[in-house]
Amino acid sequence: MFGYRSAAPKVRLTTDRLVVRLVHERDAWRLADYYAANRDFLKPWEPVRDESHCYPSGWQARLGLITDMHRQGSAFYFALLDADETEVRGVANFSNVLRGSFHACFLGYSLGEKWQGQGLMHEALQSAIRYMQRQQRIHRIMANYMPHNQRSGNLLARLGFEKEGYAKDYLLIDGRWQDHVLTALTMKAWAAER
Ligand SMILES: CC(C)(COP(=O)(O)OP(=O)(O)OC[C@H]1O[C@@H](n2cnc3c(N)ncnc32)[C@H](O)[C@@H]1OP(=O)(O)O)[C@@H](O)C(=O)NCCC(=O)NCCS
Repeated sequence: MFGYRSAAPKVRLTTDRLVVRLVHERDAWRLADYYAANRDFLKPWEPVRDESHCYPSGWQARLGLITDMHRQGSAFYFALLDADETEVRGVANFSNVLRGSFHACFLGYSLGEKWQGQGLMHEALQSAIRYMQRQQRIHRIMANYMPHNQRSGNLLARLGFEKEGYAKDYLLIDGRWQDHVLTALTMKAWAAER
């Protein structure tokens, strides 16, 4: 389950309206298009992104590193795509995967501006979370949001994440240290390896 694999895992989940799959090295232009189209929309909610996020060449380098993390099982970067897999509608990343007595990771996500308010992130995360819990055997998924990010807070609450705390000056978002509400989803039925 954990440890370096020679090939990155190929994970492709389907929901009613989306293909939710791990990104791979041929996604460079799709991801560049997504970040270029949503640059202004995502700015208040994300760390400052350098220009390379808007160009396939920047993503080629980054996808090499991400594929390595997929091989190691240390992170899982999902793209939310249309059924033909031509357009990235959003992303959902499970990062900093730790095993041992923790079996935990962080979750981050974003959805393109034109896809807001249709239940798409909820649909995608239900499926991706199930994969992380059942196939990757993650017990705790942590996701944190700025108090004024009501859409994100609502989404997490609907998915069953519970509030665990409040951290001041927690993350550098849009160039400023911003407070965050800390939440987590734990898998009640987690069982040790069979
Ligand atoms: C956070 C974010 C992903 C939430 O997107 P979202 O579209 O609101 O999320 P959901 O998929 O849960 O959709 C819920 C909305 O769709 C509506 N909806 C419409 N059809 C629906 C359906 N079939 N099923 C469920 N919800 C549906 C719901 O009513 C709700 O809208 P409302 O909040 O206006 O009531 C998005 O706002 C985003 O990308 N923000 C910028 C980046 C960001 O903040 N990232 C997170 C940092 S912590």
